[in-house]
Amino acid sequence: MSVESVVQAGYLVAAVLFVLSLAGLSKQETARRGVLLGMSGMGLALAATIALALDRSERPVGVTAGLILLVLLVGAAVGTWRARTVEMTQMPELIALLHSFVGAAAVLVGFGSYLAEPGGTVHLVEVFLGVLIGAVTFTGSVVAFGKLSGRLRSSPLLLPGRNWLNLAALVACGGLLWWFLAAGASGLFPLLLMTGVALALGWHLVAAIGGGDMPVVVSMLNSYSGWAAAAAGFMLGNDLLIITGALVGSSGAILSYLMCRAMNRSFVSVILGGFGAETAVAAPGAGAEPGTYRETTALEVADRLTAARSVIVVPGYGMAVAKAQYPVADLVARLTARGATVRFGIHPVAGRLPGHMNVLLAEAKVPYDQVLGMDEINDDFPATDVVLVIGANDTVNPAAQDDPASPIAGMPVLEVWKSREVVVFKRSMATGYAGVQNPLFFRENTAMLFGDAKDQVELIVQAL
Ligand code: TAP
Repeated sequence: MSVESVVQAGYLVAAVLFVLSLAGLSKQETARRGVLLGMSGMGLALAATIALALDRSERPVGVTAGLILLVLLVGAAVGTWRARTVEMTQMPELIALLHSFVGAAAVLVGFGSYLAEPGGTVHLVEVFLGVLIGAVTFTGSVVAFGKLSGRLRSSPLLLPGRNWLNLAALVACGGLLWWFLAAGASGLFPLLLMTGVALALGWHLVAAIGGGDMPVVVSMLNSYSGWAAAAAGFMLGNDLLIITGALVGSSGAILSYLMCRAMNRSFVSVILGGFGAETAVAAPGAGAEPGTYRETTALEVADRLTAARSVIVVPGYGMAVAKAQYPVADLVARLTARGATVRFGIHPVAGRLPGHMNVLLAEAKVPYDQVLGMDEINDDFPATDVVLVIGANDTVNPAAQDDPASPIAGMPVLEVWKSREVVVFKRSMATGYAGVQNPLFFRENTAMLFGDAKDQVELIVQAL
């Protein structure tokens, strides 16, 4: 059996492992298995690719093997270091940065494959599209990384006629494709020109989107990076890269759609930007307080919890910032041991990335059956004694239902105010991510527990 056919078989098995990995990742109970299957698939894919590179090597095999080992070591060292040091709250910016690598790789593969062997029309189109998608993904991801990490201003860049600029860039790329195909082997100049236009397009597309929509943009860039990888797969004649790219491309697109639906935003309006601009306009009025609020203490909350039969914990971004998941898990375990029914209610866009809260709670070893999604738990609030809102704000804002003029009007929210008593853990009366005031804080059955969520939960646990 030739090395080639063994490698192809390895690719096929790796592709199946990737599909099974995605299936596993769709449920918390099977997520760990999903990750292991994905890692095995990637290990197999790497081994097969290295075997193929050694088999086809034109240099002495030892030199090729040495070069591969060197890049593997550097990549693994940087990857391990970053993965160990990154904070959970920095995850979206790390992902954005990783997407920029995929984009850059697609551009380099495109140029490499064109310079080595320009090929016929089909190959030229593959090269052109691969470089185009790769370049847009590269600069778009770099801007997303800059905005998420605070290195660039997060407000949207609103150039006059910005949608026309994007359209003009696409039309120019169409013209350059025609020139590139006509020039064939001597088409390096139109390819370079298109790369410049595509880099500017990617930059402008993401610069025009406000920080508020960045997580959706990151998932959209995830999708682009998948298509860029698939295009690279076509250029290199690598089936596994085509399959993997298509999996990433379509799952990123589905995720973007689900996130938009959970925020009640249309995908097109996110892509064309402007939400951050609306929010900025709404912000000045948002500071106005529509009434008085009631403050409480950790001791009082501990008393209420001792008497409560049913409790729902609603975590949000603040729980992630305070790293309060461990004391929260401890509190829930104690209340459960005393016979209370305690569950978590998770909003689909709580936190800053999909599944953010689920990951934190899993890390703190909260049993999965205590963690419910918004649709599963929303009807149970009226029969609940106490709701603990821990660092959540926009996702529990009744204005989304009551105020058609609110920037978050129509966004589905957790109806915590329908319970007997709500305790909101936060440090101040500041607004949440969308920059809008939350009337929940001023309701009669709401009490505010100010301070760092971790400290306050620890005080309650002590008091219990
Ligand atoms: P947010 O509305 O972001 O509010 C978080 C709250 O946590 C803030 O009001 C803040 O108030 C509080 N907080 C921060 N640090 C804290 C600490 N150390 N201790 C206690 N409280 C702290 O939270 P959310 O309800 O999770 O909503 C998520 C928002 O992000 C939504 O608007 C959503 O649309 C948006 N978003 C999410 C995603 C995904 S995929 N998750 C994607 C795009 C957009 P203080 O400053 O007063 O403490």
